[in-house]
Amino acid sequence: MVRFLPCLRRPFTTATKAHLGGSYIRDDYTNITTRILEHVGLNLHLQKNHPLNLVHQRIINYFHETFTLSSKPVFSIFNELKPIVSVNQNFDSLLIPKDHVSRSKSDCYYLNREYLLRAHMTAHQAELLAGGFKNFLMIGDVYRRDEIDRTHYPVFHQVDAVRLKSRDELFPNACGHIFDKSVSTDYDGIQAKQECHSVEAVKLMEEELKNTLLGLVKSLFGDVKYRWVETTFPFTQPSWELEVFYNNDWLELLGCGIMKHHILTNAGVHDNIGWAFGIGLERVAMCLYKIPDIRLFWSKDSGFLSQFNLCDINQSVTYKEISQFPQCINDISFWLPDNVEFSSNDFYDLVRDNGGNIVEQVELIDNFVHPKTKKISHCYRITYRHMEKTLTQEEVNRVHQRIGDAAREKLLVEIR
Ligand code: DAH
Repeated sequence: MVRFLPCLRRPFTTATKAHLGGSYIRDDYTNITTRILEHVGLNLHLQKNHPLNLVHQRIINYFHETFTLSSKPVFSIFNELKPIVSVNQNFDSLLIPKDHVSRSKSDCYYLNREYLLRAHMTAHQAELLAGGFKNFLMIGDVYRRDEIDRTHYPVFHQVDAVRLKSRDELFPNACGHIFDKSVSTDYDGIQAKQECHSVEAVKLMEEELKNTLLGLVKSLFGDVKYRWVETTFPFTQPSWELEVFYNNDWLELLGCGIMKHHILTNAGVHDNIGWAFGIGLERVAMCLYKIPDIRLFWSKDSGFLSQFNLCDINQSVTYKEISQFPQCINDISFWLPDNVEFSSNDFYDLVRDNGGNIVEQVELIDNFVHPKTKKISHCYRITYRHMEKTLTQEEVNRVHQRIGDAAREKLLVEIR
């Protein structure tokens, strides 16, 4: 199958090059859109009074209060790392297999075959380890192609952390070892410890990791019900997710685990064991302040931002809806092109490009194969809502028409 997107043949404009801080040659992997590029450099987590800034600061404070050595903070903070990373940083350095789904063009924003907008803050883990850092937090914007609804936006923010320990730090009485190939049934199945580690070292690390994260959750949310769920990540083993019971439902809050020893040795660290975790800031802020829609974080409306102008960042705040403007719902149906690859994420990006932030949700509501011609038809329901005013039906129709025209031209679909 041939993929054909005419716009990809153009070189990046001079303005775009300046914005990206370098030159990137387009190739058959380029799928980044101008609209997404406009988010690069906004750094919401560093904007004063922004709810993401409050959460980011509270997490840093928790780490500084919990881990000090001779009254100096143990964790270094990296919150201005640039979001363009290499495929090596985002995937290879973290031992993510070459055929892993997370590398696909339909999941990431690629500048070209070699560079992409980081899909997680873990992308910086190996370079900071190689730079000699042992305990650090990496905070910033990450980019993922995804569905569109009130909790998903293609740009969001994460805090990722690494903590390394030497034998002396882990066993101050010198009565234990980090490395030995003992086996244990305490860690089996998907939770098997890594072969090189000793059971007692993994146990101590697991305990510190879990206590640290429960302390963090408590400092943010107070007493909440929680549970640990066993999982797998390519870069940790064993691995867990922490879920909290919030609004009558289990909410997946973060992923964590014991760092793969190969990541450390590849970075030149041979005699330490480490734990790591990653947490999404929007999810925390949405729960903490009861923010109902993820697009609000990008609002420049003073009615939104002024609610987070607090004297004390730990103060409890409940977001008050600026006002709820009505939705307009329009459907669009089309036949997918023959012989050209089509992914729903391509359509979602096209909707964002042409509809901007008045698009609240896009749902695939019908997927139909014609019994005779075998042609496939998709019907999407697009919900439009402006966060700050009432949209007229004519305004929405114009945008909807533009989306249809662009889909016909760029994705080669046939509107029904
Ligand atoms: N990078 C993962 C994600 O974006 C989250 C994560 C899981 C980060 C485990 C970590 C970790 O550092 O150890 O979903």
